[in-house]
Amino acid sequence: MTTATAPGKIILFGEHAVVYGQPAIAVPVTQVQAKVDVDDSPRPGVWVHAPDVNLHEELSRLAPGHPLGEAIRSVFSALRVPPPSSADRKEVNGKGGLAITITSTIPVASGLGSGAAVSVALIRSLSAHLGHPLPDEQVSALTYEVEKIHHGTPSGIDNTVVTYAKPVYFVRGRDGEPPTIEVFPIARPFTIVIGDTGLPAPTKEAVADVRRLWEADRTRMERLFAAIGSIVRAARQAIEEGHPERLGPLMDENHALLQEMTVSSPELDRLVEAARRAGALGAKLSGGGRGGNMIALVEGGSASRVANALREAGAQRGIVTTVG
Ligand code: MEV
Repeated sequence: MTTATAPGKIILFGEHAVVYGQPAIAVPVTQVQAKVDVDDSPRPGVWVHAPDVNLHEELSRLAPGHPLGEAIRSVFSALRVPPPSSADRKEVNGKGGLAITITSTIPVASGLGSGAAVSVALIRSLSAHLGHPLPDEQVSALTYEVEKIHHGTPSGIDNTVVTYAKPVYFVRGRDGEPPTIEVFPIARPFTIVIGDTGLPAPTKEAVADVRRLWEADRTRMERLFAAIGSIVRAARQAIEEGHPERLGPLMDENHALLQEMTVSSPELDRLVEAARRAGALGAKLSGGGRGGNMIALVEGGSASRVANALREAGAQRGIVTTVG
């Protein structure tokens, strides 16, 4: 059996504006993860088991555009071998059928990168099981193609941070050019509390709504994107210079700009306010918005106070994570 895992992620700064060429900072969240086991099976075909969503199906019966089916097919086509067929016992690398089991502790549609993490773990474990583990760059590129199904017009930041599992400063490439990905030093570690509204937040819809607003008034929206870009650059400087406390006000400013872009929600705003009242240095939504998760910057001692305040304000869970 071959197993691979991939972490969740949070966007610290720059979501949405990153789709329009501004920088963004994202970090992995290792407390949650997707895990994929691939094993040989006496049963012909490629059997996909995702017990969390009650899926037990053979690859050829997954509809075109199904993200799991597309991720699996992309590996076979990258390796230029056909998937073992369910109709006959064609062999791949001398093996019979395959059983792929997918599990994940990353909440779905919550801004924590569950789709990207499942694809990364799947592409890694399947390619390794077939004897040709794909390099990170290709894992990330294939995951990006699957992300297009989830997101429509993804920037590429989710697949990047989840593949490399390191904090990244990311700028989308123009006109199909590759992105700029910089792994930068975290001079002093800092603590983030993640609060989940429990409301599913399909990134695709929020991204499409922002696009409609941009199409209706490019000047106004590009002013907001540029303001977010300045916040991201200041945040990177604060992190590199060992002044994470400066991130608090920057988070508050970033959240206000995301509110103007209509991607916050009453539930997210309530959690952001609760975190600030409980002593967080700053707070903002994280990811696509409208629901899903928010993040708060806390000083070491106040993490549990803020996490409790978030639960009292309606959060489904509070994950405490250290960056750096
Ligand atoms: C989603 O995690 C982040 C967004 O900026 C979309 C993207 O970058 O693809 C909202």
